[in-house]
Amino acid sequence: MEARTAEQSKTTLTDLVLPSETNPLNNLFGGELLARMDRAASIAARRHSRRIVVTASVNHVAFNKAVPLGSVVTVEAKVSRAFKSSMEIFIDVWVEDRESGERSKANEAIYTFVAVDETGTPVRIPALEPETELEKERYEAALRRKQLSLVLAGKMKPADATELKALFTKS
Ligand SMILES: CC(C)(COP(=O)(O)OP(=O)(O)OC[C@H]1O[C@@H](n2cnc3c(N)ncnc32)[C@H](O)[C@@H]1OP(=O)(O)O)[C@@H](O)C(=O)NCCC(=O)NCCS
Repeated sequence: MEARTAEQSKTTLTDLVLPSETNPLNNLFGGELLARMDRAASIAARRHSRRIVVTASVNHVAFNKAVPLGSVVTVEAKVSRAFKSSMEIFIDVWVEDRESGERSKANEAIYTFVAVDETGTPVRIPALEPETELEKERYEAALRRKQLSLVLAGKMKPADATELKALFTKS
């Protein structure tokens, strides 16, 4: 299977924040943003694997900035690393200033998707070839995050999470 680049999976969803999608402070409801990120990540995972994909885990979400009603929100998802059947997807969320048109980073998240066949059984996927410095940085750290996610899910013994442990034992 030929490796694919992160750019080939890049998925951008731009949409407004409507009144029905806000919390009592008139900011975007967290669950609505999670759904938008899941949708974008799912398309990125599908573009990389060209298979049916399912969300296996939400590894990290940081709601750093509130997103006010009426904002134009862009969710950008890219595969950051592909393993055997699973993919890590990095999602960056941007908000556009109405007057200047400038984009500022509001939030980010990391999801794991698994490619499956029609019976839901995991299937092999192509490798990911990182190109830019940021893509290489995210690729490098993805194995540690996968191990952390598996340990937290009770699917890996902490003793077997060698890459993760190395992070804490480096001088
Ligand atoms: C995700 C799913 C396919 C994994 O199935 P499984 O029986 O655990 O399969 P495996 O143990 O072979 O794992 C498959 C891959 O997923 C990875 N994986 C499984 N759980 C994971 C987790 N919590 N975090 C990170 N990776 C995970 C495994 O490491 C493996 O990766 P690899 O093949 O790249 O090495 C299965 O749990 C599933 O179908 N879950 C429901 C998905 C769903 O419906 N999502 C929407 C929720 S509403």
